Amino acid sequence: MLIHPFEESGASSNLAPYTKIQDHLNSKLNTDVTHYSKIQGWFEAHDLYDFLVDQAPYNQTFRFIELGCWKGKSTAYLAQKIVNSGKNIELFAVDTFRGSDEAAHHKEPELHRLFDIFTTNMNEWVRQGLKLTIHTGTLASFANAVKPAHFDAVFLDGSHDYIDVKQDIQVAKRLLKSGGWICGDDLPWEGVARAVEELVPDAETGGGKWRWWRKKI
Ligand SMILES: C[S@@+](CC[C@H](N)C(=O)[O-])C[C@H]1O[C@@H](n2cnc3c(N)ncnc32)[C@H](O)[C@@H]1O
Repeated sequence: MLIHPFEESGASSNLAPYTKIQDHLNSKLNTDVTHYSKIQGWFEAHDLYDFLVDQAPYNQTFRFIELGCWKGKSTAYLAQKIVNSGKNIELFAVDTFRGSDEAAHHKEPELHRLFDIFTTNMNEWVRQGLKLTIHTGTLASFANAVKPAHFDAVFLDGSHDYIDVKQDIQVAKRLLKSGGWICGDDLPWEGVARAVEELVPDAETGGGKWRWWRKKI
């Protein structure tokens, strides 16, 4: 199911011209938003997120899918980058919000509240102008609800299971326009490494070999 919980914002058009509202934004950001660094999670991909926001042109919509949001640490970082960029970047956050079949997630006391925590952490960013669509489910179920070849970047940070990652990569390739970016985290996980090796053999890697990326030709 695609949900647009923050429909009332519609504030992105207020972002231009960027320079005129920067002071106003900064003063609001300091008080109202939960800074990404205060959100519990696993996020080290600042370099790649910065790169992807840089790829977005100023004169066209850029559609960015993040698979694997947890409580919103990475998403809040991206939100801050997007809002501050003044670019028309639409963000699609996809997660089952049920955690993964992994020890760190099993012992998470707030697992049953992931979705609520995520939306609370993102709410103020939406008020600041972020265009956010949240999809609760897998990337495959998201793909059933949207147009193929319609997205500019997909960042995969969901399941680490080989079969899941393989499916996520296959779906991501269908969702991307040519020239779009397929990227992901967690290459040291065996399932991720195997799937990336098989389906994106020419991926570049970085961030201590944790991250991978490739432009769709
Ligand atoms: C490592 S966490 C993401 C961390 C997050 N980016 C952060 O900054 O903290 C992985 C997330 O993927 C989600 N997930 C696991 N398997 C999934 C799947 N097959 N489809 C969609 N989401 C999945 C989990 O619910 C979890 O929130």
